[in-house]
Order: sequence, then C-alpha cells, then structure tokens
Amino acid sequence: MDTLECIKTRRSIRKFTEQPVEFDKLAKIMEAGSQAPSTGDIQNWRFILVTEKALIHDLYNHCFQQEVVFNAQAAIIVCGETDSAERLYGLRGKRLYTVQNCASATENMLLAAHALGLGACWIGAFDEDKVSTVFGIPENARPHAIVAIGYPNENPTKQFKDLAKCVYFNSFGSKIEDLHLVIRDYSVEWKKNLDSGKQQGKRGLKKVHHHLKKFLAKANKSNMKSVMEKPKK
Ligand SMILES: Cc1cc2nc3c(=O)[nH]c(=O)nc-3n(C[C@H](O)[C@H](O)[C@H](O)COP(=O)(O)O)c2cc1C
Repeated sequence: MDTLECIKTRRSIRKFTEQPVEFDKLAKIMEAGSQAPSTGDIQNWRFILVTEKALIHDLYNHCFQQEVVFNAQAAIIVCGETDSAERLYGLRGKRLYTVQNCASATENMLLAAHALGLGACWIGAFDEDKVSTVFGIPENARPHAIVAIGYPNENPTKQFKDLAKCVYFNSFGSKIEDLHLVIRDYSVEWKKNLDSGKQQGKRGLKKVHHHLKKFLAKANKSNMKSVMEKPKK
C-alpha cells in the first residue's frame, strides 16, 4: 500500500477480533511513531506499551469505559516528556511543541497499524491523573494520547469534507474558484463540459424543431397555393 492510499483508507477502528497482535507488529508501530517529526528533532515522546488484560481493563475504566479500549488487544500510551522541550523552547516548547510532537507520533502509529493490516483508534478522552498514577508517569511527563490496537472487526466508511471548503489562498478566508483545476483534478471539468454539452444539445434541438416547423408551415402554404393556382399553360 502506498503512503497516500494508506492515509486515504485509514479509519478509526473501534471493534477488534480476539486475535492477539504479534509483538513484532507492535514494535513496528512504535518504531513508526519514533520516526515522526519533532521540534528541533528532540523526539521527546515516550511510549508505554500495554498488553496485559488486567491493565487494559484499568485503562478502559480510566477512558470513561469506552468499548474500543475494552476490546483492544494492545494499547500504547503516548507521553510527552517536557524537560527538553521547556529547556530549549520555554513555555511554548512545553505547552505546544510537546503536544504537536506527540500528535505527529500518534498519527504515524495509526498509519503504521493500518499498513500492517491492523486497526487502531486514537483515544484522547481519558482521566489524565488516573492514567498517570496507574502507569507511573512522572511529573515531567504527560499522557497525551492512547492508541488502542487490534485486528479490525469492522470496516467503517466516511464522507470527506470538500477540500475547497478548507483551503484558502494567500490569506485566511480567500477562496479560489475551480480549485479542482489547481490540483489538476480534471474529472470535475469533464463533467461540467459534459453537462453543458447536454444542455447545448437540448437547446440546439429546440432550435431545429422551431425552424423545421416554420419551414413545413411555409412549404404547406406554397403547396396549397400551387393546388389552388391553375396550372399555367
Ligand atoms: C485528539 C483526538 C482525540 C480522539 N479521541 C477519541 C476518543 O476518545 N474516542 C474515540 O473513539 N475516538 C477518538 N478519536 C478519533 C476520532 O473520533 C476520529 O479520528 C474521527 O471521528 C474521524 O474518523 P477517522 O479516524 O476514521 O477518520 C480522537 C481523535 C483525535 C484526533
């Protein structure tokens, strides 16, 4: 599966089979997470891999009993370690960059899981204090996300928002008409042409009808005339 295909077909999976996930696949997922971009390349994420059923059950309780966590065969708690970020970038490093670094690692893991034929879901709703206590997360680290993983037992679909609705050009709010031409999606233009061709075709046909009617009326008139007129000798 190529990268764009992987991005496009990844979905949040919340139902898993009971098949355990092989350790080497979990290792590949975490490796993908650790290869994400980070501010100044500080790689200040820390991953806690949870596979024990009892601990997954604890996690489920601290994730407001979300079924997806209960069903997961494994979970990865993505923590941000704030010391290096704060030392290098101050409050912005601690508050913003660490969150972003962990988010980029989390997305990498979701994509890796999908590429490996697994299902995964990003869990953000959990009791941070409880998770920190149960999993021994120190003061200078914070759990940012939990990735629930297993073999998928559902195949959800989704509607993507129109790209043109979220893309502005050069300043916030300024849109471009015919974005599809900019991104070279000519299918939209083909359809437009086809539709306008059909419309023109309909208009053209109407005109032909109109002229034909006029012509026939005229022809009829002159035929009648020729019948009424006496043939010239
Ligand atoms: C920051 C963040 C937190 C999320 N938290 C949860 C969560 O607690 N539980 C859950 O089921 N899904 C959670 N999700 C997954 C979103 O619901 C999901 O990505 C969204 O509905 C789009 O679906 P998709 O991932 O299939 O494209 C979270 C996603 C993000 C980015």
